[in-house]
Amino acid sequence: MKALILAGGAGTRLRPITHTSAKQLVPVANKPILFYGIEAMAAAGITEIGIIVGDTRVEVMAAVGDGAQFGVHVTYIPQDQPLGLAHCVLIAHPFLGDDDFVMYLGDNLLEQDLSAFVSAFEEARGASSPPTAQILLKKVPDPHRFGIATLDAQGNVVHLVEKPADPPSDLALVGVYLFDKTIHTAVASIEPSPRGELEITDAIQWLIDQGYRVRCELLTGWWIDTGKLTPLLEANRLLLEKIALRIDGTVDDASIIDGRVIIEAGAVVTNSTIRGPVAIAAGARITDSFIGPFTAIGVDCEVTNSEVEHSVIMTRSTITDIPRLEDSLIGKEAVVARTQRRPRALRLMVGDHCQIDLE
Ligand code: DAU
Repeated sequence: MKALILAGGAGTRLRPITHTSAKQLVPVANKPILFYGIEAMAAAGITEIGIIVGDTRVEVMAAVGDGAQFGVHVTYIPQDQPLGLAHCVLIAHPFLGDDDFVMYLGDNLLEQDLSAFVSAFEEARGASSPPTAQILLKKVPDPHRFGIATLDAQGNVVHLVEKPADPPSDLALVGVYLFDKTIHTAVASIEPSPRGELEITDAIQWLIDQGYRVRCELLTGWWIDTGKLTPLLEANRLLLEKIALRIDGTVDDASIIDGRVIIEAGAVVTNSTIRGPVAIAAGARITDSFIGPFTAIGVDCEVTNSEVEHSVIMTRSTITDIPRLEDSLIGKEAVVARTQRRPRALRLMVGDHCQIDLE
């Protein structure tokens, strides 16, 4: 079994951050989203991983390397344009060969580990009428944003449609799929959709139409497609919920640490209150500030005389004299500073290298 992780694409919905960075590398709980997917593969025993990369390939390749840090071997597959999820399978054929594989969307985060999902497919493949594909479904409140499945009375998948205006059900396709080699014939047989992409949803529908069996499972834990700000902050919140207290950095006597907080080695907290769940990365400096629940402060950030809550602050950014910053995503090396006494609370999405001076 191999894995194909999709980390190309455009990332329009997290602009301005994704003008300069890969959306799959935005950190949640101080770890890039993509790393959770790679770790999930390693935990499921899959060590041969192909990663589709697009315009942001240099950054993705620098972060992931050859995969040794995860105990896996990574092969990069460049995609010149984001022509669709099925196009990714098409160009990955030389890497995948005739092997079964897991396809994982690099901007998806799942609570459940993937081992049971993978072994259920392997078991079903050994039984009579083996499936050629397996999909994972989850009930969602906003089905027009996803691929949507319709099941018959026996629970078999009978129809799939991509982002329907009038959804036939509320069962969304989660970004984890299992395929055997038949999918290569399917992706070569379909036409681009009205939005100009080769849709994996259409390729799976092709399998169904040709009489192949597509197995489905309902996901029990949480699942987040992190492509937008609100779900990204929600993923950050859910992952921080799971952390345990660990203080490897320096905290002075005037500071208060309350609840589950991680302070990495090299971080310095001075005259501040940190109310968990909070993660503070190596080299960060928190001075005369309050860091509230569900906040992740990145490597070498500086927060001075400010209040930050329910936010993600990326590497080497500085927040100075801000009375309250909440529900915000601040890109890398950004500067947010206030020189006068207004406004009182801010909700921001700030791109990499930006400077915001509130006068
Ligand atoms: O998140 C689940 C949904 O993901 C499914 O319900 C949909 O059926 C499926 O089409 C997909 O929809 P999205 O619109 O969310 O896909 P997105 O364009 O965000 O791409 C998903 C990942 O694949 C993302 O990490 C970028 C990468 N990608 C995307 C395209 C279109 C590529 O690497 N190459 C591509 O050509």
